[in-house]
Amino acid sequence: MSVLIKNGTIVNSSDLYRGDVYIESDKVTTIGTNLTMAADVTIDAAGRYVLPGGIDVHTHLDMPFGGSTSADDFATGTTAAAFGGTTSIVDFAIQYRGQTLQQALDTWRAKAEGKAVIDYGFHMIITELTDEVENEMDSMVEQGVTSFKLFMAYPGVFMLDDASIFRAMLRTGKNGGTICMHAENGGVIDVLVKKALAEGKTAPKYHALTRPARAEGEATHRAIALAEMADVPVYIVHLSAAEALAMVTEARDRGLPAYAETCPQYLFLSYDNYEEPGFEGAKYVMSPPLRPKETQDQLWRGLAGNDLQAISTDHCPFCMKEQKALGHGDFSKIPNGAPGIETRMALVYDGGVRQGRISLNRWVELTSASPAKIFGLFPRKGTIAPGSDADIVIFNPDRTQTLSVKTLHMNVDYNPYEGRVVQGVSETVLSRGKVVIENDKFVGRRGAGTFLKRDARS
Ligand code: URP
Ligand code: ZN
Ligand code: ZN
Repeated sequence: MSVLIKNGTIVNSSDLYRGDVYIESDKVTTIGTNLTMAADVTIDAAGRYVLPGGIDVHTHLDMPFGGSTSADDFATGTTAAAFGGTTSIVDFAIQYRGQTLQQALDTWRAKAEGKAVIDYGFHMIITELTDEVENEMDSMVEQGVTSFKLFMAYPGVFMLDDASIFRAMLRTGKNGGTICMHAENGGVIDVLVKKALAEGKTAPKYHALTRPARAEGEATHRAIALAEMADVPVYIVHLSAAEALAMVTEARDRGLPAYAETCPQYLFLSYDNYEEPGFEGAKYVMSPPLRPKETQDQLWRGLAGNDLQAISTDHCPFCMKEQKALGHGDFSKIPNGAPGIETRMALVYDGGVRQGRISLNRWVELTSASPAKIFGLFPRKGTIAPGSDADIVIFNPDRTQTLSVKTLHMNVDYNPYEGRVVQGVSETVLSRGKVVIENDKFVGRRGAGTFLKRDARS
């Protein structure tokens, strides 16, 4: 099977030029101008950008959490991702207490196999670090699970103490992996939550008011300090607060291997959303919470200046009916998370590139190349180059779309951006040389996605 994409504007993280892309089987083999080779499929990309497929390194599909399970499984979630121009995800396998890491990996691989329509890898969440589990971390890296997510929040559920965090970091420093950190001070938050509930403060907005930015800043500082002592790269996930960004900036200025992602929700939504009437604020209950509107500009500056290296989604959808509803009368029972896997590329193009906050190249870097580099997927993924996987998005920058639960494909009953008009549509999407979205229609195959064995640091 061969595909020739003609007349598009190819955008990599560091190139921008008119050209044609020739694909044989699952790889890009030739890039040039006026290519004339015969192909089974020819796609005219005139007037379109031709991008490496988006890489979302923070998703939670089919994840049991907060008394419920995230509403997208690997079939619906990856289909929605493909519609939005994302062709690889890195999801999170969870080691529950008493389990081995291998049990967790087997469980999550079984959830994805036969369902995912695009390629997928896993980070490993460690919730209990026994000596056996510590030893097992090396085997995860050998199997291509080259990053470990640790939690400084959610005491009694996911949170690890500092000693366990430090031990996991020391091991990861040696085995070539990377530490991903959920950086919020869980102990402080727990006290604030109990106090708020005792005072009768039960509405969704108290989720945000009991998770101060300072608690994120403190934990980010601690995560970086522990990683520095353990001599391991640390990647702060879902960074939302200016206080946390300042810690990452300070560490990077000192030359430390500290990285961080933010997510579209922190760039386009704000604390004000929690003030929506009735129980509507539950739509935005996520951790860390949405911050004051002024923070958005600080995050955009961090993205432009490379203090933040990636934009992922933290896609973790729960329906308002039946799932978020668990927290009526007690905000602490609202499952944490929101949908976003489908809307990332267009939102960041519209709000970032079109608003002059980041360049076209930086858009591709933040949503594809840079996460691929940090998480051991580059140059297989994250670039259009001879030999790379033919994961390609043909993006129409002139079409607009209205983000709405009625038209998007995520398996959830609301959209946090309902009614927002954005310019830019991922019209045609290829995953390893196969067209999966063709002029806005899904033409892929359930189960076609394969497990991504990621590289360790060399
Ligand atoms: O609220 C969130 N972020 N839900 C998903 C779990 C996590 O901490 O990433
Ligand atoms: Zn987290
Ligand atoms: Zn998450």
